[in-house]
Amino acid sequence: MSDAAHSPGGEESLIDAGGKRDELQQLRPLPRISIQAFCESEDLLHVMNDCAEDRRMARVHFRTVNGNLETATNMYGSSPTPNLIILENRVPPRELMEQLSDLAEVCDPSTKVVIIGHDNDVHLYRDLVRQGISEYILAPVSIADMINVIASIFVDPEAEPLGRTIAFVGAKGGVGSSTIAHNCAWGISNLFSTEVILADLDLAFGTANINFDQDPPQGIAEAVFSPERLDDVFLDRLLAKCASHLSMLAAPSMLDRTYDFNTTTFEPLLEIVQRSAPVSVLDVPHQWTDWTQAVMKEVDDVVVTATPDLANLRNTKNLLDTLIKLRPNDKAPRLVLNQVGMPKRPEISLDDFCEPLDIEPTAIIQFDALLFGTASNSGRMIAETDAKAPTAETFSQLAHILTGRAEIKNKKKSGLSNLRSLLRRG
Ligand SMILES: Nc1ncnc2c1ncn2[C@@H]1O[C@H](COP(=O)(O)OP(=O)(O)O)[C@@H](O)[C@H]1O
Ligand SMILES: [Mg+2]
Repeated sequence: MSDAAHSPGGEESLIDAGGKRDELQQLRPLPRISIQAFCESEDLLHVMNDCAEDRRMARVHFRTVNGNLETATNMYGSSPTPNLIILENRVPPRELMEQLSDLAEVCDPSTKVVIIGHDNDVHLYRDLVRQGISEYILAPVSIADMINVIASIFVDPEAEPLGRTIAFVGAKGGVGSSTIAHNCAWGISNLFSTEVILADLDLAFGTANINFDQDPPQGIAEAVFSPERLDDVFLDRLLAKCASHLSMLAAPSMLDRTYDFNTTTFEPLLEIVQRSAPVSVLDVPHQWTDWTQAVMKEVDDVVVTATPDLANLRNTKNLLDTLIKLRPNDKAPRLVLNQVGMPKRPEISLDDFCEPLDIEPTAIIQFDALLFGTASNSGRMIAETDAKAPTAETFSQLAHILTGRAEIKNKKKSGLSNLRSLLRRG
């Protein structure tokens, strides 16, 4: 925390209350993060409730809980962790350290923790920071203190951008890349209560609006054709809400103009979505242009969707080879095999498809015309259409993997190999 007035060991009252208010006036609004605050004292509960009302917190999902660190650990054993946990602490340092390690067991690695304590102990402060605690603030705290601390973690221009970007692209048109992008975006937002922005980059033919049964008047076209206006307030106006934690930048899906972009067109948009939400999903059309290449070079993860035929195999091989060259220091793109097992369609076997690619698919999704057709015709996601369908479970696993919550642990023993043997038998 930059404000020395409240950091342990700092000099008291370096900044007066008026100064702090001025500092607060200059702060940008906070991004779309989730915060849960566990408070034991009435005073702190009041401060937190007042914080929640501040205009800079308008986009934040903020919840105050009457409780302590143990309450938090019990709660997160069975519910998703937010982006930030604020904990009031009254237990002695040694107990605090033990309780924090219990919390770490049930907490998402990306979750940040701020502790509000009653011990003015600089050693404790250093130990906590060494353990990965973002900040230790000495009680009593003001609204300005709290908002400044949150801002120092999530809006500091020097800090790493908050959000991860995941681009989805098909190895051919019609392989289901958009459908998978939309279901993953929805799954991540719904399973982990994480704010997700879904951007439909297929301006001419995009289907995110149809798949979510929405027809917003504005969307991605305004963002790319008026880059000079693109700030967080303008972005708010362009986003259409699809679910409680999912907002969409819809494509116009109109042919009244052409959409020829250049390498830098999407840069401002990528920059702002990364600063606005923890996860952004980009639905990239099946095209190989300067701008699609630039987007795929820029994002954190690329997911290539393919169906098991020869053209898909050749295109996937070219895409993977080229993307690995373009992103030498990043994770290799992931592969999702889709529409597997379509009746009467000759297919390349899973082994023959994956062997030349030297990659294990992250997910394999069966062809299911009824399920996918019903979902898209009714503007709903697969898990909303049939929560018990195996494909709903596959999308849930994908959401876990793409957000770093699960990995394919042992390729030989994974559910994937079970699926492989099933497919071979079938
Ligand atoms: N596993 C699947 N089984 C059956 N139909 C599917 C499956 N995946 C996608 N589809 C359907 O295929 C069509 C094309 O999907 P879309 O996501 O638009 O592909 P892309 O974005 O790759 O062009 C859609 O009608 C979609 O509902
Ligand atoms: Mg598409």
